Amino acid sequence: METQSPSSDVPTPCCGTKRRGILKGVLAAAIGLFVSVVPLIPGLAVLFSPLRRKGNVGGRMIRITTLGALAGSTRPQRFQVIASRRDAWNLYPPEPIAGVYLAPQGDGKPPKAFAVTCPHLGCAVDFNGETEEYQCPCHTSAFALDGQTLYGPSPRGLDELAVEIRGDEVWIDYKRFEVGKSQQIEIPS
Ligand code: FES
Repeated sequence: METQSPSSDVPTPCCGTKRRGILKGVLAAAIGLFVSVVPLIPGLAVLFSPLRRKGNVGGRMIRITTLGALAGSTRPQRFQVIASRRDAWNLYPPEPIAGVYLAPQGDGKPPKAFAVTCPHLGCAVDFNGETEEYQCPCHTSAFALDGQTLYGPSPRGLDELAVEIRGDEVWIDYKRFEVGKSQQIEIPS
């Protein structure tokens, strides 16, 4: 006669029950994490929103001088570009941020404006009244009165900025461009 082991009649807990327990724990932890993190998201978005703000591409109109200050001059004159600056969280008071040459054109025409920044590597160019050239002291690039490159390593001519006359005032559309490139590539402000 066949005998049975007594243990074969006793139901043993099986791995399915254990697995359900683990799944419940994981689910509870996930819900807890979700409930505690979700309310923080709007606050973090507000806190870091200035960092997500993209710089503006396009210039900003800045008053440089008056037509009276250029009257009687036939040579380019250098002026400071004065403007306020903004970073992610702060707006700074107006200060010199760049330089610009205003080149009189005669016949009542508005002056042309050229950034003083050399397009080669960014040194400031000087106007030489004897040779009537803009010259860069760093690597001897030179530019004609109309801004075109005469010689030297600069990959493009001086960057011309649009001019607007408002009454007696001279305003420019101030922009910055990457140096070392043959094409003008605007740097967002
Ligand atoms: S920075 Fe002007 S020539 Fe190099």
